[in-house]
This record gives sequence, structure tokens and C-alpha cells, in this order.
Amino acid sequence: DIPIYTTVASYREWRQKAFMENRSVGFVPTMGALHEGHLDLVRKSLVENDLTVLSIFVNPAQFSPHEDLETYPRTLEHDLKLLAQQQHLVVSNTPNTHSTSTITGQPTHIRRPSAVFLPSVSEMYPHGISQDASLQRGTFVEVKGYADEQMEGKSRPGFFRGVATVVTKLFNVIQPTNAYFGQKDIQQALLLRRMVTDLLLSHPSAQNLHIVPTARDPLDNLALSSRNAYLSPSGRKVAPTLYNALKAAEHCWFLERKSKKECVDAAREVIHRVRNAEMGTLDGGGMEVEIKLDYIEMNDAEDFEVLEDEVTLQSRGEDASTVILSGAMWVNGTRLIDNLLLGDL
Ligand code: PAJ
Repeated sequence: DIPIYTTVASYREWRQKAFMENRSVGFVPTMGALHEGHLDLVRKSLVENDLTVLSIFVNPAQFSPHEDLETYPRTLEHDLKLLAQQQHLVVSNTPNTHSTSTITGQPTHIRRPSAVFLPSVSEMYPHGISQDASLQRGTFVEVKGYADEQMEGKSRPGFFRGVATVVTKLFNVIQPTNAYFGQKDIQQALLLRRMVTDLLLSHPSAQNLHIVPTARDPLDNLALSSRNAYLSPSGRKVAPTLYNALKAAEHCWFLERKSKKECVDAAREVIHRVRNAEMGTLDGGGMEVEIKLDYIEMNDAEDFEVLEDEVTLQSRGEDASTVILSGAMWVNGTRLIDNLLLGDL
């Protein structure tokens, strides 16, 4: 069984040992309800680090009062089972050096997740935490220019302040050598990289904050997400529309070489078409399947600026930075997000 640390003090004791033995620690922060996307991050960490720590903490500060904090899926037992199944075999070219780790008690040539950090809300927020920003007191981390005006931040005010604050606390406790985030939440990952640079953090350093490609359903490319669990069967069927819309915009940008505005419109068109086709369709429970577009946007991956309407691939020039093509869509009460990178990070 993987050891579970529920207090900062007990985890720190374990971490101290790893420091003394010079073992690298990879860290995967999560809110639980683990799926293959989370497990991709875990497996990458197992490959690149001696020890791997995963945290599970549903952070109240990143849910606004009307969001789904209470109903957010909590599947601890299943999460621990999935974690226990993950392993990486270290192939060594010096035979007979297989030994037992003094930290994990496991053979060092088989790596499994070494620890789970599972703190309570009061452990993470000793003075308490309100979801209502106007009632919050104490210390918070804001990454200005990367959050409230763009993409997810515009639709979810205060969200990234909650994320940056909790991840700072987690980094402070876990002291990871490397940390792993998903491209699925590209704005979160890039904002945290900026935060690590700005705050001169060393555990992890900005170069050691890794971004892992989005894991998708192999049949229809829906980006895996804990919130997909909210979807009804007919909601699930239309959910890949967001990805299909982004692919249409990508095609428009690279192959038709049209303007940002035309490409964003091409994506919206895909969503509107499916929405109209679905109108009146009833779910198993007699509910109508309702799709609503939140936003489709194109931003510069370096400064997060929204691209001007007339900009094209050609007008940006050869050495322009990568573009984030992102979107959010509601399927009944469930908010889905996805993105494609137009270029490399
Ligand atoms: P959560 O939504 O649980 O996601 C944890 C990590 O898994 C994030 O880095 C996220 O980008 C990654 N992830 C989720 N779905 C993925 C997919 N389909 N493919 C690849 N990676 C995926 O993001 C959070 O939690 C929280 O904001 C957190 C960082 C833990 C702070 O509270």
C-alpha cells in the first residue's frame, strides 16, 4: 500500500529523508477522481524521478460560491487502487545492482508512486478559507496579466488566484524536484510556470515544471476530465463537439490560412450546427440535451494577448510564438474545456 500523509509535518519528515539520500521527487498535484490523464502525469514522473508523490486536495479557494465544490467527484478508494497499479521498470545496464530503497522499502528497479499527500482543508488553510472572495483574509498569490482577462480566467473570476495560492502552498510542502501538469489546463500550467519564475522558487524550478499532452478518449477524442462523470449518455455523445470545433479552427488556420476571426467563426459554426441538430432531442431521463458555447479564443502563448481579428499564420511571421486555441462549452450543467497548441511550446 502507498503511504498516505495527511499532515504537513508527517510529509516533511518523509521529504527530509529523500533530501538526505539525494533522491529526486516528482510531484503530480490533483483534485482526485483520477483518470488516464492524471495517470499519464504519474507515469511520466515515475520515469523521470526516483520517487513520485501525488496530492489529492479539492481546493475550496478555486471554486466560486455558485460552482460545484460540494458535488465535485470524490473517489478516494478507486484513486488509490489506480495509483497502486502504476509502475515503471528501471532498466539498468549494470547487473546485480538491484537494491531496496530505504525510503520506500521497495526494490529500486521497480518504481511505484511513493507517497500520497491527502491534507484536510484546515491543514492547508490553518485560518480557514471562504469561497466568497470578499470574505477572504490572509495571503493569496496572483499572477497578473495571465489570469483574469483571458480564457478561463475571464469566465471564472478568482479561479486562478485560488489555483496559484494552493499550488504555492503545495510546492512549499512537497518541495518537488520536478512537477507535472496537463496541457488540458494549458493556462493553468503556463501561469504556474510564470509564478515559479517570478517567485524564484527552486522546488520546482521553472524548467522542471513539465507540461504533458492532453489524454483523450481514443474513440472520439474527448479530453478526459473528472467532470465528464457529470455527463448523461446523450450529453457524453455531443461532448466531443468542442474538440471538433477546435480542429475546424486549426484546419482553417494552417491549411486555409485564413484570419483569426474566420477561424474562430469556423469553430463556433461547428458548435452551432450540433446545437441546432440536438435541439428537441431528449435524454434517457426525458431531459433535453442543451449545448451552449462559452468561448472560443486564440491567444499568444507567451504574453497571453488575444490575437487581433485580422491576424493570419502568415502575418504573424516565421518566428512568432505559439498560439493557444482554446474553448469552453456547456453541455447541460457541465462545463467542458479543451485546447490545441498551434505550434510547439
Ligand atoms: P485536476 O483537475 O485534478 O487536474 C490535475 C492535473 O491533471 C492537472 O495538471 C491537469 O491539467 C491534469 N489533467 C487533467 N485532465 C487531463 C488530461 N485529459 N490530459 C492530461 N492531463 C490532464 O488541475 C487541477 O486538478 C487543480 O487546479 C490543481 C492543479 C490540483 C490545483 O488545485
